[in-house]
Amino acid sequence: SSVLILNGPNLKLLGTRQPDVYGAATLADIERMCEKRARTLKLDLAFAQSNHEGVLIDHIHAARGAHDGIILNAGAYTHSSIALMDAIASVELPCVEVHLSNIHARESFRHTSYIAPVALGQICGFGARGYLMALDGLAAHLDAR
Ligand code: DQA
Repeated sequence: SSVLILNGPNLKLLGTRQPDVYGAATLADIERMCEKRARTLKLDLAFAQSNHEGVLIDHIHAARGAHDGIILNAGAYTHSSIALMDAIASVELPCVEVHLSNIHARESFRHTSYIAPVALGQICGFGARGYLMALDGLAAHLDAR
């Protein structure tokens, strides 16, 4: 199976961006960790990052037919984007929502996720390790189909 790992706005700055909140790992570090786990899980991975809502939607549309599932950290668009929610719902691919930080323990505007209602599940608060947990969960889901 093949999985798209899609990261939204500001996540390219990981490593230097508020490391007290988001940790010291860079996006490249996270991608390396995921590649290693994917080899064990026998998954193929593709990675994309964009700061632009429409570009993220284009990636989600392109995933249909090309991938079997999506791991999505939509960054702040999580809390605002009905368009991203509709895109996930439209492609009918299992999607695991990931956040490095525990969004429920932060400002109230981060408590709402437009992704959660259309996601298989949500993982937050475990830092970079959350992406590996998402891969494990998605792999199990895809195996069980
Ligand atoms: C985030 C949480 C969001 O609230 C924030 O806007 C981000 C990162 C996280 O991974 O913890 O950009 O998605």
